[in-house]
Amino acid sequence: MKKLLFSVLVFMLFFNCNQTKEDVEVVIEKKEVAYDMYQPSEMANLMNEMYAQNLKVKQEILEGKIPTEFPLDFLKIHTAELSEFKSRNETFQSFSKLFIESEKEIFNTESQIPIEERFNTTINLCISCHQTECTGPITRIQKLLIK
Ligand code: HEC
Repeated sequence: MKKLLFSVLVFMLFFNCNQTKEDVEVVIEKKEVAYDMYQPSEMANLMNEMYAQNLKVKQEILEGKIPTEFPLDFLKIHTAELSEFKSRNETFQSFSKLFIESEKEIFNTESQIPIEERFNTTINLCISCHQTECTGPITRIQKLLIK
């Protein structure tokens, strides 16, 4: 009797193990499929974050609040990995620099230039860089401008 119970237990263990292994394989397969469909680059993720952040800043400006903290994450624009088919050429680098300087100015509480103007200058730099190599999101970015 003891022996039988033991073998039943072993059988169950074995069976369970097999099942989990299969489950894991299914999960892995699903993940690979998802990656094949769309894998945003580090830069694309950063861009979406910058979009959301600037939309927030725009709303704050419209509500009369003065945003004071430059989002340090934006500095990743100098290092974030691009999609495979794109490269970080000289034009890209000079636009990144101009953009970061301009974005920092939005948060410069001592500036004499109206904040709406500083904000729009920055968004126009997003657009200028996009005109050189990635025109797709331009209409979306234009919606950030304060009218
Ligand atoms: C220095 C050039 C440059 C600047 C400045 C820049 N972008 Fe981009 N942007 C790019 C490039 C290049 C890509 C494509 C990234 C990739 O596919 O790896 C991109 C992609 C995007 C995308 C699409 C992301 C996706 O999901 O594929 C959005 C949205 C975007 N940028 C918005 C912005 C906004 C908003 C700003 C300003 C706050 C901005 N960009 C500033 C070069 C720039």
